[in-house]
Order: sequence, then C-alpha cells, then structure tokens
Amino acid sequence: MEMQTSEIGINRTGLQASPQNAQELLSATKTVLPSTPGDASGIGKVRAEYIAESDPLGSVPPPAAATGVLKGGVNIEAQNQSQLFADKLGERLAFERTGTRLYEALIVKFRAYESELSNVSLARIEEIRDEEAEHFSVLRAAIESLGGDPTVQTPAADITAVESQGLMQVLTDPRTTFTQSLHAILVAELTDVDGWDTLIRLARAAGHEHLAVEFESAQEAEETHLDSVRQWLIDLMEGETTVLS
Ligand SMILES: [Fe+2]
Repeated sequence: MEMQTSEIGINRTGLQASPQNAQELLSATKTVLPSTPGDASGIGKVRAEYIAESDPLGSVPPPAAATGVLKGGVNIEAQNQSQLFADKLGERLAFERTGTRLYEALIVKFRAYESELSNVSLARIEEIRDEEAEHFSVLRAAIESLGGDPTVQTPAADITAVESQGLMQVLTDPRTTFTQSLHAILVAELTDVDGWDTLIRLARAAGHEHLAVEFESAQEAEETHLDSVRQWLIDLMEGETTVLS
C-alpha cells in the first residue's frame, strides 16, 4: 500500500525537466505557426451561435396532483417562484443521493488505508453517509407533500449530476489516496451547506415554514459534516508534513 503522502518521484511534466528540449520547444513556437487562422474569439462566436439556437436544459413539470402547492398560484410571480422551488428541491434530492454514494466510495478508500488513519473515525464517516441518505428521504417527503414527483430529473438536478461527476471520478480512481479522496468530499460538503441555505430561503419565501424548519435541521447536520471533513484534512496534512520534514 502506498503512503498517504504524495511521493517525490520522477515527474517529467515540467519544462525544467529538460532544459535542452525546452529551448528547442520555445524556438519551434516561432517557426511552427498555427495551420488555420483565427483565435479564441472564433470559438466564442460559434458558442454564442449555439447558445442562441439551443433548447433549454429540460423543464420543471407541473405537479401530478391538481391541488399541488408546487403548481403555485394564478399570478406569474408565484408560479415562477414555485417552479424555482421545485427545481431546487430536485437538485438537492439528486445531490444528497450522490453524497451517499460518495461516502460509500470514501469508506472503501478508508478500508484500503485504515492502518494510516488513526485520526479519522470510520463510525463518523458511516454516520455522515447515513445522514446524507436521511436528507434524501426528507426531500422526497417534502416534494411529495407539495404534490410533486420525486423521481423527476429537474434541470438543476441534471446540472448538479454533471458537476459532481468529477468528484466521483476522484473517489473511485484506484490511484487516489484517502486524503486526496477526502478533498473531493470537501467540495461536496461545501456545496451541501450552501444548497440547504438556498432551499431554506425558498421554502420561507413560498410560505412553507414547516419545511424551512426541517431543512434547517438538515443544514445543521451538514455544518457538522463540513467541520469533521475539514478537521480530518488538517490532521492528515499535518501528519504528511511531519513525514516529509
Ligand atoms: Fe453532507
């Protein structure tokens, strides 16, 4: 098993690894010119054309139940607000589900590096994993109570799934250490705390005080997740610098 520490070894990615080739490379930039004309503004122009012609990234469906609160009122502003709320509920649901899976992957990494992780508690990691799953259930119940369908992939849920792909890649890459994996978890937890904040504000604005209170207790749990992850990272990095010095 490799150490937690990023090892010092042969890394040839930097230019200074080969001064002679570096000179050749730099002189080549003066003689080998781009084979086609244009610069970054050309790419921007093409992207702008695509943006102008593109469809939106999915939509938020009206709730199945005709009496659903998510349907909003008759006025446009209330409808837009309830649409945004439904979109963000779907986002949080997707992210908490992913969060559970991220922690499952972290547990596998923990077991692989267990002997070096005296400062990290597996019981606490499992507790956080369970709370992510619990939050998923809270959201499912909230969406159902508003007449929505929790199986819907909303546009914001779709986006958050794309965003978190990189996190899962880091966690399941067999080469990454526990510490490197934990950094990906930190990104997820930072997003968690802010995500609940948005949802609490939207719930209050829509007059769903009971949901806002439920979401607040989820947010409190998320803040303790962030504290645990940050502390582990500090301890692990301190341990690594001791090894290096
Ligand atoms: Fe969390």
